[in-house]
Amino acid sequence: MSSTATALETPRTSIIDAVATEVRTSLSTTPKTLSPWLFYDEAGSRLFEQITELPEYYLTRTERGIFAAHADEIIRQAGDSQMLTLIELGAGTATKTGILLAAAVRKQGSIVYQPVDVSETALAEASENIQANIPGVTVRVQVADYTREPLPLNRLPNTRTLALYIGSSIGNFSPKDATEVLRNLRAQLLPGDVLLLGTDLGPSRYKDEATLLAAYDDASGVTAAFNRNVLARLNRDLGANFDLSAFRHKALWNAAESRIEMHLESLTAQRVHIPANGCKPILTVDFAPGETIHTENSYKFTQASVDALLKSAGFTPAHSWQDSRRLFAVNLATAV
Ligand code: AVJ
Repeated sequence: MSSTATALETPRTSIIDAVATEVRTSLSTTPKTLSPWLFYDEAGSRLFEQITELPEYYLTRTERGIFAAHADEIIRQAGDSQMLTLIELGAGTATKTGILLAAAVRKQGSIVYQPVDVSETALAEASENIQANIPGVTVRVQVADYTREPLPLNRLPNTRTLALYIGSSIGNFSPKDATEVLRNLRAQLLPGDVLLLGTDLGPSRYKDEATLLAAYDDASGVTAAFNRNVLARLNRDLGANFDLSAFRHKALWNAAESRIEMHLESLTAQRVHIPANGCKPILTVDFAPGETIHTENSYKFTQASVDALLKSAGFTPAHSWQDSRRLFAVNLATAV
């Protein structure tokens, strides 16, 4: 028997077990929820890539613009007189990181880059792109779930670690959980190590609510497809019988919690079986008309709330760069 799977790959069955566990707990509660990690199967990851290129989804291109405008300054402030090594949480295909790596190579000649992600295929792409385009970077990929496992930090002597947590990924966590994620990161760093955190900003006198909402409810319906894909995934992975056309994509701004919420709203009274006809029933789910599954929170920040989060996790805010339209912030902080 031959196998192309490596020891690093999470076996598909264990992913499906995790999906089943998530569904059992999250769809049997009131209100119904599903965790955002479920979005990112192969189809969902492709849809997310499409989202990042939408005219309405300003986050990715704005953060990239901030890096492009300030990479040398960011790296100079992060590194000071020290040699930097870079670790990235949830690196994915690392398309924006190249700008920072190139700046690091300009400053110090070479750099070790450790992208951490649950997706081995995304990391392979990241590694290939970076090694082909930026000479001087040594890539060491690490397949791991940074929210559940300790970071596989390879510390080199006499270097400072720059931890990258960009793309507003922190926005998926409640303030309490975000503090926890950053505290865990802090626990694996040394005093003087640095964090670069990308945060999306809430409505302000610069940014209206409509701009924010449109990023999560685009005219071409890609975000709606991304949201509904979670049901398609449950059909594929668990043999459920969700009728995708019986659920509506809904995005709303929750001002009290400072977050965008995404929901899937049931258009009718309906019953869904998971699996539809398998021998090992997981769950039967009843929906009232108008009832929603809450699929995502995307928290938005002010400079004050970012700084408070950083401090609560053991970091001292050092500098923040924003675009001229004040849509997004890239925050540098030092581990205390
Ligand atoms: C990947 C969590 C940063 O919250 O903007 C995009 C995910 N959801 N459109 C975000 C997402 C809908 C995205 N993050």
